[in-house]
Amino acid sequence: MTGRERFIHAIEGRPVDRPPVWLMRQAGRYLPEYRAVRAEHSFTDMYKDPEVAEEVTLQPIRRFGMDAAILFSDILVIPEAMGLPLAFPTGGPVFERTVRTEEELRALTPVVPERDLGFVRDAIVRLRRSLGTDTALIGFAGAPYTLAAYMVEGKGSKSWANVKRLEWASPALFEALLDLLTDAIADYLVMQVKAGVDCVQIFDSWGGNLTPSQWAHYELPRIRRIVDRVRDAGGRSIVFVLGSGLFLNEVRQTGADVVGVDWHIPMADAVRALGPQARVQGNLEPLSLFAPPERIRTEVRRIVRAGRQAQGHVFNIGHGLIPETPIEGVQALVDAVRECAEDER
Ligand code: CP3
Repeated sequence: MTGRERFIHAIEGRPVDRPPVWLMRQAGRYLPEYRAVRAEHSFTDMYKDPEVAEEVTLQPIRRFGMDAAILFSDILVIPEAMGLPLAFPTGGPVFERTVRTEEELRALTPVVPERDLGFVRDAIVRLRRSLGTDTALIGFAGAPYTLAAYMVEGKGSKSWANVKRLEWASPALFEALLDLLTDAIADYLVMQVKAGVDCVQIFDSWGGNLTPSQWAHYELPRIRRIVDRVRDAGGRSIVFVLGSGLFLNEVRQTGADVVGVDWHIPMADAVRALGPQARVQGNLEPLSLFAPPERIRTEVRRIVRAGRQAQGHVFNIGHGLIPETPIEGVQALVDAVRECAEDER
C-alpha cells in the first residue's frame, strides 16, 4: 500500500495494513532544513512563493516519509485576503487592524480565492505533481470562530476577552463576521480540492473557548456548510477542534469524514463516545516526543490499539509540533506507527 492509499483508505473507513501517519505542524522550525530556508525569507514570503511552499512541505516527507504531506501555508491567509494586513514578528501573528465594529466589518473585502489566493492553488498543483501516487496531500483552512478570534483580537490572546465580549454583547455582529468567513473558507477549500488535495483539515484551534452549547450554536452549522461544499466538490474532510473532548459528537455532526481528537482525552474514551462507525485522527501528546524512543513507542501503541476499535484511524499528535521538538522523537513516533503493520490484528 502506498502512503496515499493508506491515508485515503483510513479516511473512508476501508481496511489498511496500519494507520497512516502525519503530524500537525510537521513542516516547521523543529527542522534544521526549515530554519535554513527561513533564514533567507520572511514567513509571509515563504507561503506566498509556491516554489518555497512546495520545498518546505516536502522537507518532513523526505526526512521521515509520512503518509501525507500538509500544504505549507497559514490559516490567516483568509483574513489577510479580506484586507487585514498581517505580519509575523517573533511571537506569533499580528494584524494591523482589528474587526470589532459594524464599520470595520463592512470594510472587509470578499475573497475571490482564484484571484487572491492563487499562490496556494499553484503550490498545490506543484505538490500534487511531485508527490505523485506515493504520498497524500492535505489542504486546510481555519474554522470561522478561530479566524474571527484572531481578527477581533488582532493577535493571539490569553483571555480572548474581545472576541468573547463581541459574542456576549453583540451577537448579531459576531454572527455576521462568522457568516462572511464561512463563505470565504468554503470557496477557498473548494479551490484547494479542485487543485488536487486529497483531503482538507478544518482547524478550530480556539473552538474550545466556546461553551459546548455556543459551539453547537455558532460553529456546528457553519462548519457543516463548509464540509458539505467540500464534499459537493468531491473532497474529503477532517475537523479538528482543540478542547472538544466533551463534545466530540457535536463535532461529528458536522458530517466530516474524520473527527480530530486532541491530546486531552484518552483515544479509547473518544472512540467509545463516538461509536465503532467513527473515523478518528490523533492524539499523541505533542510534548511526549521529548521522551526516550521506548516510551514514545508505548504511547503510540496504546493509541493505535484504541484506534482499532474505530472504523478508521489516522495517526497524529493531539495538537501541533513545537519548535523545540527533538527530531529523534518524531523519528521514534513514525517508526513506532510503521511497526504496527507487523502486529497481528
Ligand atoms: O502543519 C503544517 O506543517 C502546515 C503549515 C501550518 C502552519 N500553520 C505553519 C506555520 C499550518 C497547518 C498552520 C495552521 C495554523 N496557523 C493554526 C492552526 C493550527 C494550530 O496550531 O492550532 C493557527 C492557530 C495558526 C496561526 C499561527 N501561525 C500562529 C499562532 C503562529 C505562531 C506560532 C508559532 O509557533 O510561532 C503562526 C506562524 C506559523 N505558522 C509558523 C509556521 C511554520 C512559524 C513561522 C515562522 O517560521 O516564524
